[in-house]
Amino acid sequence: MQDLSELIESARKDFAAAEQPAALEDAKARYIGKTGQITVLMKALGQLAPEERRSRGQEINRAKAAIEAALNARREALAEEELRKKLESEAIDVTLPGRGRTPGGIHPVMRTWMRIEEIFRSIGFDVADGPEIESDWFSFTALNNPPNHPARSMQDTFYVDRTDAEGRQLPLRPHTSPMQVRYARTHEAPIKVIAPGRTYRVDSDATHSPMFHQVEGLWIDENVSFTDLKGVYSNFLRCFFETNDLVVRFRPSYFPFTEPSVEVDMMFTSGPRKGKWLEISGAGEVHPNVVRNYGLDPEKHIGFAFGSGLERLTMLRYGIDDLRLFFEGDLRFLRQFN
Ligand code: PHE
Repeated sequence: MQDLSELIESARKDFAAAEQPAALEDAKARYIGKTGQITVLMKALGQLAPEERRSRGQEINRAKAAIEAALNARREALAEEELRKKLESEAIDVTLPGRGRTPGGIHPVMRTWMRIEEIFRSIGFDVADGPEIESDWFSFTALNNPPNHPARSMQDTFYVDRTDAEGRQLPLRPHTSPMQVRYARTHEAPIKVIAPGRTYRVDSDATHSPMFHQVEGLWIDENVSFTDLKGVYSNFLRCFFETNDLVVRFRPSYFPFTEPSVEVDMMFTSGPRKGKWLEISGAGEVHPNVVRNYGLDPEKHIGFAFGSGLERLTMLRYGIDDLRLFFEGDLRFLRQFN
């Protein structure tokens, strides 16, 4: 008759060798499954003599119990191992410093933008916004600067690979002046508006960047004169720089869309550029042809426009000598404004 202790031993070895729950269940089937060795032995009991049957039955039952105990122990061990591995792979190191966000700051050019909006709103100007990919007509022609006009070369600019209905390539707007026309054509006179935004030109040095910011200003009514331009603009500068002590000049100049035209220069009173002039704005009385393109009658409506560089105003306000600093993203520079 088969030695049951060997059978128990063999089951223990098989169970120990099972590395996965599925393998363990396979091993179990070989001993106590439907056709397992213990089950076969049980079935064979019937062939034994009655006196033998009882003691052999008890023996087999004890073996079965031992095998079941070994099986359960191995099941638990495998489950524990699995849990341990899971915990290990999901472990978080609570001693690592957190990935907190430090508070950001407002870019100095944006501060200028915000200040300008605030100042002009306080004297009744609306604030408008428009497209940076502009049509040729709004960028130039509507501003009295037709195709092949030499003044276009002053603003030699970037174009995108698309054309408008007239087959003209679309420029990235070289100035915010197209907004004069866009706004005036969709609003009733009197018109008082500023339009701050990004502009693009093929220029790059200490006082020029290929992308820069301008603010356009436009005041059209029945009697807005060059004197009003000087008054409003000088007042704006006094508010912006928070001083009456400014060195500013209105220098005669040329733009196709204004007549007479000026450039406004301002002197640095601090920083490395102290004593040097910087052009901050073009301006003038709007040309009659442009007033016509607004959809208004130049015999009745007249006024001024200006276009100022936000980086330039920011340089003067803080005494910064190189405009490229605004675009380098160097926190040592940027943190000084927050
Ligand atoms: N658009 C001009 C420029 O970018 C500035 C300007 C605006 C001049 C309005 C006159 C009137 O140079």
